[in-house]
Amino acid sequence: LIVILDFGSQYSELIARRIRETQVYSEVLSYRTTVEQLRQLDPKGIILSGGPNSVYDLGAPECDRGIWEMGIPILGVCYGMQLMVQQLGGTVERAERGEYGKAALHIDDPTDLLTNVEDDTTMWMSHGDSVAQLPDGFEILAHTDNTPNAAIAHHERQLYGVQFHPEVVHSVGGLAMIRNFVYHICDCDPTWTTEAFVEESIREIRAKVGEKRVLLALSGGVDSSTLAFLLHKAIGDRVTCMFIDQGFMRKYEPEQLVKLFAEKFHINVEYINARDRFLEKLDGITDPEEKRRRIGHEFIQVFEEESRRLGPFDYLAQGTLYPDVIESADTNVDPKTGERVAVKIKSHHNVGGLPKDLRFKLVEPLRKLFKDEVRKVGRAIGLPEEIVRRHPFPGPGLAIRIVGEVTAERLNILRDADLIVRQEIKRHDIYHDFWQAFAVLLPVRSVGVMGDRRTYAYPIVLRFISSEDGMTADWSRVPYDLLELISNRIVNEVDGVNRVVYDITSKPPGTIEWE
Ligand code: XMP
Repeated sequence: LIVILDFGSQYSELIARRIRETQVYSEVLSYRTTVEQLRQLDPKGIILSGGPNSVYDLGAPECDRGIWEMGIPILGVCYGMQLMVQQLGGTVERAERGEYGKAALHIDDPTDLLTNVEDDTTMWMSHGDSVAQLPDGFEILAHTDNTPNAAIAHHERQLYGVQFHPEVVHSVGGLAMIRNFVYHICDCDPTWTTEAFVEESIREIRAKVGEKRVLLALSGGVDSSTLAFLLHKAIGDRVTCMFIDQGFMRKYEPEQLVKLFAEKFHINVEYINARDRFLEKLDGITDPEEKRRRIGHEFIQVFEEESRRLGPFDYLAQGTLYPDVIESADTNVDPKTGERVAVKIKSHHNVGGLPKDLRFKLVEPLRKLFKDEVRKVGRAIGLPEEIVRRHPFPGPGLAIRIVGEVTAERLNILRDADLIVRQEIKRHDIYHDFWQAFAVLLPVRSVGVMGDRRTYAYPIVLRFISSEDGMTADWSRVPYDLLELISNRIVNEVDGVNRVVYDITSKPPGTIEWE
């Protein structure tokens, strides 16, 4: 285990992911974690993250000073390095010139931390403060044109500091440096593997659940599907997957999903057809947030009714991932038992509370994992590739891809148009080129002509997006021929549509979805 003490850097999670990529387990903890707590965890090394503060600010976050005496290797990154220097008797000052972006790292001492890191390699910098004077016993390992102390070490005590961010992708020698730290300096073994994780989770699930029953809300996304496979492997029929069809999924998807899980993999799936109730709840509603609220609320209602009908269940399985755990640390813990309890179900709608008598105990086997690790686990336990690499799909589904009021007629139109989009990008083998690619229906009508007939019908918007994480996005430069093909097919094959337009707005300022 490598512990990352987080001082509020946007990159703390990324450091953890990089370390895990070397097959060494790592966790992000608050900078307030005490030495006693750390001793109990028995990490082989500690990394102090960057952070937005200056070490000389009043009230700047500090770690427990006892960590310097723990006798384990410590690496300070950016703010973490400055804190190390300050606490050990050196000085940090506002730099004459801050350094932001790429910088060439000139290596002065190519031993331990910088073994196999090439001289003049590019590293990503982002700092306004610099180390002015090193504490006793420290040496310079590398410098940049603007920063004399870009990497430092106290070799004997195994304390290291770097001013740059080895974890970001622009830092070319970053991964080599991280490997040096975890393998050679901390002496970790590469034991954090998908196979080991699967084996251990199956053991843990069995030990925890015993002969009891588990309920799981299956959405068809990669998290809940992986969870279903894992639980099925661990406890077989004692897990029941509840799949609520609210009527806003893509054409054929509910049928295919049930077929795949139930028939092909013999997983216990309860298909709940709630299409009419959801549609009724949206009658006359045009505001996007109100739509989401109503869908979320109805989801909880159906979930409650059905879990009473199918139950009782002792446990609820949730696809909580590691980033959710970091964000919600300490909340939702039963003060008596210390176990995490569900007061909300983490549906993709993220709303609504559960009534008291339905407060399940939780099984959260994915809570140590990042999203990319979930995909690996899914793959390893046989989840089909089409689910592992499926585009993200919003919980409220097509209901928020029909701008304004949702009606049965509009849903049918959009489902058909959306199917054509998917068919064509799959046929052209470019599905994975996009973050998302979908159709949106607008509630206005325009004039067209087909044969000798005048038409007056809805337009469909095509939204093809490239993105790394959905936070920012760009519209995809799709070949005109493909757009033409999709447009022709939609206008000819989907009744009620006479025009197709292409959305060329990036995010920001647009959002990916239209609602
Ligand atoms: P926006 O439209 O905010 O979308 O740029 C960013 C990402 O989030 C997805 N999205 C949702 N997912 N429930 C969800 O589960 C929602 O209400 C929702 N709204 C947007 C969207 O598909 C994109 O991937």
